[in-house]
This record gives sequence, C-alpha cells and structure tokens, in this order.
Amino acid sequence: MPSAETPAQNISAQLLPENFDTADFHAHIATVNHRWHDALHAAQFDAAVIAAGQPRNWFQDDQAPVFRANPDFAQFVPTDDCAEASVLIRCGERPVLFFLAAEDFWHPPPVIPQWISGAIDIRVFSDSDCLRIELARAVSAAGRSVLLGEAEDSNLGCHAHNHSAVLNPVHYQRALKTPFELAALRTATATAVKGHLAARDAFLQGESEYGINLAYLGASGQVASDLPYGNIVALNQHAAALHYPFFDRSPPAERFNFLIDAGARAFGYAADITRTWAWPGGEVQADFAAMIAAFDVRQKEIAAAVKPGVAFLSLHEMAHQAVARTLAEFGLIKCSADQAFDAGITRTFLPHGLGHLVGIQTHDVGGHQVSPSGDLAAPPSIYPALRLTRTLVPGFVFTVEPGLYFIPLLLRELRSSAAGDQVNWPAVERLLPCGGIRIEDNVRVTTDGHQNYTREAFTASGASA
Ligand code: GLY
Ligand code: MN
Ligand code: MN
Repeated sequence: MPSAETPAQNISAQLLPENFDTADFHAHIATVNHRWHDALHAAQFDAAVIAAGQPRNWFQDDQAPVFRANPDFAQFVPTDDCAEASVLIRCGERPVLFFLAAEDFWHPPPVIPQWISGAIDIRVFSDSDCLRIELARAVSAAGRSVLLGEAEDSNLGCHAHNHSAVLNPVHYQRALKTPFELAALRTATATAVKGHLAARDAFLQGESEYGINLAYLGASGQVASDLPYGNIVALNQHAAALHYPFFDRSPPAERFNFLIDAGARAFGYAADITRTWAWPGGEVQADFAAMIAAFDVRQKEIAAAVKPGVAFLSLHEMAHQAVARTLAEFGLIKCSADQAFDAGITRTFLPHGLGHLVGIQTHDVGGHQVSPSGDLAAPPSIYPALRLTRTLVPGFVFTVEPGLYFIPLLLRELRSSAAGDQVNWPAVERLLPCGGIRIEDNVRVTTDGHQNYTREAFTASGASA
C-alpha cells in the first residue's frame, strides 16, 4: 500500500533560487490568483484545477522529450520539475499545489519548490494514485469546478474542461506582466546576451555552426533542454531559412555572415533574441555589413516608437517601410521605397510578423485576443503571419524583430509577378549567399513609453547596443 500524503519536511526541498524575490513572487501570485477568481466567478465556477500535465514518451519508444508544464500552471509554480502536479484554485482562498514526489530508483525524486510556500500551500504525495484521490476529494468539496489541462487529467470529477469563459480572460491578462514576471524576463535576457556575445566571438574566430552553438550554451550556462526554443545558428545562406534547425559541423569555405536567434529562460520566462553579424573582409560582406548597420538603425526606430496606445500593426507597417527604404538605399529595387511598399514587394523580403508577446511561452498566448471575453482580431490578409494585433498597454512585453531575407522560393514568385520588373535582380542575386538579416529585441511597454530589455543587457555587458 503506497503511502498517501508525505510531510513536506521529509523530502528534500529546493533552496531559494538565485534572483528570486519573495515579495515580488507573493504579489505576483496574489495578482494571478485574483484574475482566476474573477474569471471563475464570472463563469459561475467555484474552483479550478490547473494540471501541469503528464510526461509522454515518443511513439513506440520508452524515451520522452523534456517535460514542460501547462503554461497556466507554470504561472503559479515556476519549475519544470512538476510532472503530474496540479494547482487547485478556490474562490477566496490561497492556491494549493498537489505535488508528486514519487520515490523511484531510476530518477532522483522531484525537488519540492518549498520556496513558493509563502504564497501557495503545498501538499506532497509519493504516489500518483493517492494524489489523484486526494485532489478529486478536494475538487468535489469545492463546488462547481473546471479543469484546465490535458484530457488525461479529465477524470477528477470536474464539471467542465478547458472552458473558454474561464480561459479567455486569464489568457487575455497574461499579456500584462507582473513585476515578478518582468524581473524574470530581464534575467532571461541578461543570460541570453552572454551567449550572444560568445557566439559572435566564435563566429569571428571561424567556428562552425556546431562550435558557435557550443559557445552560446557554455557562455549562457545552459544545456539544450533549458532553452525556450531550439537555437537558430545560421551561417551564410542558411539565414534565409527562418527556422533553420541544423548545426553544420564543418565551417563553410567562405564566410559572409551569421544570424543567431537564441534565448534563455528564468523561472520559465523566455528571452527571444536575434542578432546578425557580417564577416569582416570581402566586398559583398562589406556591403552586407553596411546593410545590417542601416537596418539596425531602423529596428531601433521601430522599438523607439513603442508606447501605450500604439497599434502593433502600425509598428509592423513601419517594419515594411524599413525594408522598403533599405532595399532602395542599397540599390535592390528600381522604384522608390514608397512604391515598393505600396506594391507589396517588401512582403517577399519580410514574410513574418514584426513580433509577438513573450512570456512563459516564447510565442505567448493571446496575441490576437482583443477582449477578455475572447474576441479575436485576425491579422490583415496581406500579413497572415502577424502574431500580435493588439493595441499596446503598459505591462506588455513583446519582440521587435524586423527581418530582410533573400529567400529563393519567395524571390522566384516575385520575379514572375507583375512587380518583378521593379527589382534589380543582379544586385539581389549578389547577396543571396548572405541569406538575410534579423534583429530581435524584447521590449516592455511602460506607462509612458518603453524599456528595451535586450539593448539594456548588451550595454550592461559592455557591448555596443
Ligand atoms: N525564435 C522564434 C521567434 O523569433 O519568434
Ligand atoms: Mn527569435
Ligand atoms: Mn521572436
């Protein structure tokens, strides 16, 4: 017979993590708990179970990807070491964490996040069946309840599952970061910037993509499973694949440029940063370096326009104008920048959106959600990849990541279109080996403007921002 509930003091508890501000965390939990209570009350529920989720093996395998918790759970319990745990929210009460610390000789037991116990009550179980029985008992005593989680957790006796009337308001409010979340995002940014500087140096020393990636991980103190998303480490024309996933072991014969899109996490919150560097030497490289510098100025202009009340779509349009001006300045088009913008030529060179909300998820939830009740603002049909269509308010943190790429597939389409004769094709083809430019910062909206976390972290590291 497995033991039921285990006294927390009998299991190793995690020490207070570095950079953890207890007061900020308690205030964060109070804010998030309040949001949930309001949502539950409005939807006529008394309680919610937010399930972290179950680890799941690959098909016909006994190996599993690294476990990541349901983001709604992670907003309460900022650790990945929480498989099969749940948080019980009851109106007017402190949240309760039902935590599984199973004894198992294959693995060390999960470490209880004791450091959250000032804000969240913790009940520890050494057996998952016992946890489930006790959670179901607490759910049935709580009144009308809703489960937020995967289907595997739907046997707890809740009255509803992933109910939109509860999820919509809390997901809408996830865009409004608490001071704890802002601090986590800044910490993640500072960590990622250490990696970016080492990656740039490794590129300049002639390393392969594989070697550059190792330099990034080493300097940012991460293993691959810590990362918020798979690093993009792209030399030369590989930069034209927006989500380039490989790490060539051999350096290329000739170097043109290097694009790196790589992040870090702190308390589960992601940094998402891209930089593009040119190789010092060569005529094409020198022209491309000038183009990166010009585009960097324009990226900063877009980030500088961030303030409350601005529609993100207008910043996205600024990015297309930035692409148009850069194409004109470097002789890549025969028409004016305005004509290129109006004719949609820039959409070939910038096929993704300017950015997205960033938080527990790299592409955080709610980017198209324009009301707590779940109304959506779809992106305009000419910009289908735009992930953020909301108007900016203080507390948002999002990426500003304009790009300018030479993507053969899209260039072929443009060439055969009516606007194709407005392009200086020999000039474009000369830059094909460079793949493209992306510059991505993480920017917070303040009460009267913005704070660029990424530029601040580069400056604090002594690098030019
Ligand atoms: N790294 C993914 C993105 O920039 O959206
Ligand atoms: Mn990115
Ligand atoms: Mn991004």
